[in-house]
Amino acid sequence: MKFFIDTANLDQIREANELGVLDGVTTNPSLMAKEGIRGDENIIKHYIDICNIVSGDVSAEVISTDFKGIVEEGERLAALHPQIVVKVPMIRDGVKALKYFTDKGIKTNCTLVFSAGQALLAAKAGATYVSPFIGRLDDVSTDGVALISQIVHIYDNYGFPTQVLAASIRHPMHIIQCAEAGADVATCPLSAITDLLKHPLTDIGLAKFLADAGKK
Ligand code: E4P
Repeated sequence: MKFFIDTANLDQIREANELGVLDGVTTNPSLMAKEGIRGDENIIKHYIDICNIVSGDVSAEVISTDFKGIVEEGERLAALHPQIVVKVPMIRDGVKALKYFTDKGIKTNCTLVFSAGQALLAAKAGATYVSPFIGRLDDVSTDGVALISQIVHIYDNYGFPTQVLAASIRHPMHIIQCAEAGADVATCPLSAITDLLKHPLTDIGLAKFLADAGKK
């Protein structure tokens, strides 16, 4: 299972990368705005800065919603750095654009996926990654992890190479449940990754070992 970090915050990306378990980064327009990154030039520089920190895939989201705009924007983003993956929303022109990018060998991440039908369309269009938003489904009393299992099952039935990228993860249990469900990737806030470290018996055990090591 690959771990991506879901942020545009460079310090958090560095921290996750230094932990040695980071495989990539996902961003979206809201995460960029949260860091105060606005305007084409700043956004482009920020994507390149992220690519220079990590060695894996970095999703950069288009904000166009028509085929021509998505294609132009996506090609511009893909040309920035070989690690860039063009993130495309699950809309009609987005599906067309996914197929276009697939045919051109440009990596894609189909975002804002909330159903198995949408995931099937993304796979048919050849998306590199599909991003079901599990936390946002949980927020509306729908089982997000169940959707991950359903998509993994469907992709396995037909051998679709599209990777299931569990997104909108809120806590460490989401990561564990997505791993059990067979997600290829989890994109997480830094806290969800570092919270995996925690166990009181580890702390108690270590304190005892260190105390015993100090005894004569
Ligand atoms: C996915 O790539 C999105 O950036 C993200 O996971 C959305 O998460 P949120 O529901 O916490 O905004």
